[in-house]
Amino acid sequence: MNIYEEIRKDHDKQRELLDKLVKTSGDTKERDQLFKELKDELAVHSDAEERHFYKPLISNDMMQDKARHGIAEHHEIDELIEQLEETDYDSSAWLKIAKELQHKVEHHLEDEEKSYFQLSGKVFTEKEKQDLAKSYRKHMSKNL
Ligand SMILES: [Fe+2]
Ligand SMILES: [Fe+2]
Repeated sequence: MNIYEEIRKDHDKQRELLDKLVKTSGDTKERDQLFKELKDELAVHSDAEERHFYKPLISNDMMQDKARHGIAEHHEIDELIEQLEETDYDSSAWLKIAKELQHKVEHHLEDEEKSYFQLSGKVFTEKEKQDLAKSYRKHMSKNL
């Protein structure tokens, strides 16, 4: 396994949770459970990704702007999560913000998979890609 395969697995999980979340309605147990699961999943993933994917890229001239942009998007995602937390589950605004979150996360995952993975693939050695995969997964398992 390399770092890209590990991250992609978690991205697919996020897409699945988002798909399910936007199909929920009102103040239900299902919405509450899915939201909490997604929130944890996103938070731990962003942290693991920043440490074990973006951080080693920040010092590379070709990747610095991309890494900064990716990290800035993590903050935008956090803000939408906060907005959802401040909104009542049964308010009509909740689903609107959840859909905004879905759109934002999907766009972010696509940037990472279609652009950052390819570019960083030329920066990391095969050994680094495998070592990062291990440290990324270790962080995920420890914190989720
Ligand atoms: Fe990310
Ligand atoms: Fe990611």
